[in-house]
Amino acid sequence: DAIPVITIDGPTASGKGTVAQRVATALHFHYLDSGALYRLTALSALSHKVSLDDEAALVEVASRLKPTFQADDVFLNGDNVSLAIRAEEVGNAASKIAALPAVRQALVELQLRFREAPGLLADGRDMGTVIFPNACLKVFLTASAEARAERRYKQLIGKGFSANMHDLLKDLNERDARDANRAVAPLKPAEGAYLLDTSNLTVDQAVEQVLGWYAAVSQSA
Ligand code: C5P
Repeated sequence: DAIPVITIDGPTASGKGTVAQRVATALHFHYLDSGALYRLTALSALSHKVSLDDEAALVEVASRLKPTFQADDVFLNGDNVSLAIRAEEVGNAASKIAALPAVRQALVELQLRFREAPGLLADGRDMGTVIFPNACLKVFLTASAEARAERRYKQLIGKGFSANMHDLLKDLNERDARDANRAVAPLKPAEGAYLLDTSNLTVDQAVEQVLGWYAAVSQSA
């Protein structure tokens, strides 16, 4: 395909988002935060009192989703929901509905539309395995559970939410297990993915590594 795609998949709070955004900026690529789409679906379902077990109703919610992304903000029906979708409650709900195959299917089209010139950086769990299997570079980014819980803690506190490490570690492990064990699009490295453990890397080092890999694959293409 003409329009290059880089995928970065990995577990929750692995630092994917930060690294992915930085790489996208460096390359002047578009950026897809696919997790935000699951979070937006969850937020919309919660606010319309749709049960998280009602697959048909959730599919309705997902297929009606018309978010607009502006710089670092995301809007839903005119409301800036950038902060609201980051709440742990919304993240947990997102992880539950993400296990439903029909909900995932309902979000496919929306994700594919992000592929625009000059290129796309797609961040999520199944970007390299399911949504963009022909990406020119696939990265699987991980970090230890402790490093991730600490990052999530700082992120939440920084946004003014309250948080405690014990609950976060528990949430994180539950979410990882759900993402890794679901029948459809489970979290796993794509074939040919480059593995990057960021437990002991700075953001700059992780960004440099991904840019280096991209330079190498685009040269050999
Ligand atoms: O990455 P983030 O934590 O924002 O994603 C929220 C939830 O959405 C994840 O816990 C995961 O279950 C789900 N998700 C997914 N597939 C993606 C992106 C996110 O299942 N591509």
